[in-house]
Amino acid sequence: MGNFSYLIFKKGDAMAEIKFYTGENIPLELHKVKIVQKLDLVDVERRAEAIREAGNNTFLLKNKDIFLDMLTDSGVNAMSDRQLAAMMIADDSYAGSATFTRLTDKLKEIFDTDYFLPAHQGRAAENILAMTYVKKGTIIPMNYHFTTTKAHITRLGGRVEELVIDEGVKTTSSHPFKGNFDLDRLCSLIERERENIPFIRIEAGTNLIGGQPLSLENIKEVSRIARENGILTVMDASLLQDNLYFIKTREESCKDKSIREITREISDAMDIIYFSARKLGFARGGGIATKRKDLYLKMRELVPMFEGFLTYGGMSVREMEAMAVGLDETMDEDVISQGPLFIEYMTDELIKNGVPVVTPPGGLGCHLNALEFIPQVRQEEYPAGSLAAAVYIAGGIRGMERGTISEQREEDGREHLASVELLRLAMPRRVFTLSQVKYAVDRIKWLYDNRELIGGLKFVEEPSTLRFFFGRLEPTSDWQDKLVRKFRKDFGDSL
Ligand code: F0G
Repeated sequence: MGNFSYLIFKKGDAMAEIKFYTGENIPLELHKVKIVQKLDLVDVERRAEAIREAGNNTFLLKNKDIFLDMLTDSGVNAMSDRQLAAMMIADDSYAGSATFTRLTDKLKEIFDTDYFLPAHQGRAAENILAMTYVKKGTIIPMNYHFTTTKAHITRLGGRVEELVIDEGVKTTSSHPFKGNFDLDRLCSLIERERENIPFIRIEAGTNLIGGQPLSLENIKEVSRIARENGILTVMDASLLQDNLYFIKTREESCKDKSIREITREISDAMDIIYFSARKLGFARGGGIATKRKDLYLKMRELVPMFEGFLTYGGMSVREMEAMAVGLDETMDEDVISQGPLFIEYMTDELIKNGVPVVTPPGGLGCHLNALEFIPQVRQEEYPAGSLAAAVYIAGGIRGMERGTISEQREEDGREHLASVELLRLAMPRRVFTLSQVKYAVDRIKWLYDNRELIGGLKFVEEPSTLRFFFGRLEPTSDWQDKLVRKFRKDFGDSL
């Protein structure tokens, strides 16, 4: 795949690559479609109307108006035949379910963890961790925050310290592991604040900077520093499957290790692993796994209080059964390569067309750099949000704003401008075909050629927390009407 300038790092050659005789450079699907869902593509006039009705917030669009839903990779990954079959043997009981035992055994096999606390999704696990370890004055160092993680920590009076390497927030880079910790900054923070730090959170891969991975070496170094200082290590493994693929293909010393071996080395370096099974495990749910009984006992009572009894934690047993199989499939290189390869293809094609994107391609999705795409839109008028609305109008494609709208205002009401303004186009795993990805590239290319038409947004309804979920905005001018007219001029009667 791709031979672009961001790839100055040597790619490992351990994973089998399927070459085309004609030399074409495209990812090949290593699965076949068994069930399909019909999609509709509404016309551009309806798309402009739909985004208006949704307050220019893609979270508020209705699915019937969406052609390619690239909002997220969460809870929308295609399940395998083995997962669906496993759902039929799920053991529905309030306590002592055999499904819970199967899931715990699978986690033991993969992570060597003896204890598992189930939770209904990733943020519920974050709530349990925060309620156990965070109080006023607590500091949680992490490579980068995630929205729900930060909300739980700050709600309880704690503070997040982001320690990602400088390269991490550079949108274009050749660094293979942009999610790595800056170890010097970590050490000096610990020196100053040791007694306020209960744990270090390691997000592998790092969602908000473009699904960027950490290296195994960096993970082990963070763990060594933490252990020397008597601090716990907590991994957010929600995006671990992509990170495993990148360790295998980008980290020279790991190219001969199996995915299982890499996973075990990671888990040996961690005290606690939590995850959203809406991503890791291709199902819906989440939980916290640990080898340590003392840590398990410290958190245990919160599960029946907030989630459900200890053997289901608010999840459907069917999903738990599917998760156990999904975790097993995550150890298969052919399975976990599919997402990153499609993302790399989309990123490469956009680069060929001059579109500014985050490089190197990461996991989760392809990320457009809104600050470079539409430099005429000031950050106070939300370029990533404007681009999300424009991409929807151009192609019925739903992305997610990951910029200033996703931040929270300062306590004094000032806008907190994000360090990056990205439009995330997520690649749910095994869901889209290559021609659908090509369509997305085509419409984005058209939009880029007409980028001077795009204007800004302003809030008309602004909730005080997590405003990106429910907030409503309107365009600062009639730019969306102009975009629709240009679309009609260029595409005629086409949808
Ligand atoms: N941690 C990370 C790294 C995540 O990406 C997410 C969710 C969570 C925790 C929370 O998990 O949704 O199961 O409660 N990310 C989704 C996304 C929402 O679209 O990126 P959850």
